[in-house]
Amino acid sequence: MMDYKNILLQRSGRVGVITLHRPEALNALNLGMMHDVVAAVGHLDADTDIGAIVITGSERAFAAGADIKEMASRSYMDMYAADWFGGWDALTQVRTPLIAAVAGYALGGGCELAMMCDFILAADTAKFGQPEINLGVIPGIGGSQRLTRAVGKSKAMDMILTGRTIGAEEAERSGLVSRVLPAAELMSQTLETAAAISKLPAPAAALAKESVNVAFETHLAAGIRFERRVFHSLFATKDQKEGMGAFIEKRPPSFLHQ
Ligand code: CAA
Repeated sequence: MMDYKNILLQRSGRVGVITLHRPEALNALNLGMMHDVVAAVGHLDADTDIGAIVITGSERAFAAGADIKEMASRSYMDMYAADWFGGWDALTQVRTPLIAAVAGYALGGGCELAMMCDFILAADTAKFGQPEINLGVIPGIGGSQRLTRAVGKSKAMDMILTGRTIGAEEAERSGLVSRVLPAAELMSQTLETAAAISKLPAPAAALAKESVNVAFETHLAAGIRFERRVFHSLFATKDQKEGMGAFIEKRPPSFLHQ
């Protein structure tokens, strides 16, 4: 068994549960977290005794975004050369059904990670948003593509251009999440759903999700590649340095629009 520093990994029957666990940073997705999540999902996906995987966070936050402190001072070339966030794309190759159970904040990369799962179950406390514009960047883990496909152009533009956060009800109404559950029942109902799926024929489940994803993904890869390049390029702007610097220094940003 691997030693994970940023997640907890549990098994319950044929269900694997990955709990994002960086409570000091509201589960902000740093590189260590990316490696742990991708490795754990890969490990569970390869295990024929596992028929469904749940990714969840804490009551307060599924994940409050990519780790701003880890990115703030990087240059365009740093981001491009490391193909920053590229590792997350491995989740799209997973055959086992992947469910996101979201309570609290799912912002930026947190919302994007939830959207990389096959479907999202939300607690009534869940808050979704793509606030990257406040930091002088744009979504970089597929948000501009997956949110638009999930909720349509108008709602996606509204969320991505204003950075505003939506609650669980609005998220369900918009088609971003499949169900809203009372917070106290989020995990029990998610585990019940995952257990039910895990008992169904695994080859049919794998091919069913692959088929739905073909409907969803046609032309998505080109969109993601485009988005990644644009996201990296924003690290050449003064406003990215200002936006992320201001967050870390806990002060309002003063943008130069350059
Ligand atoms: N990166 C790094 N650290 C983060 C973080 C993030 N995304 N979100 C929260 N934290 C840290 C805070 O800095 C704070 O650390 P300290 O105690 O060391 O100061 C700790 O987590 C707790 O956060 P707050 O004190 O801010 O908690 P709050 O309850 O007052 O506010 C919040 C909660 C509104 C979610 C606020 O933390 C926030 O706005 N976070 C940033 C949200 C954001 O901008 N996300 C997008 C990130 S960029 C991105 O994701 C790019 C992409 O496309 C992938």
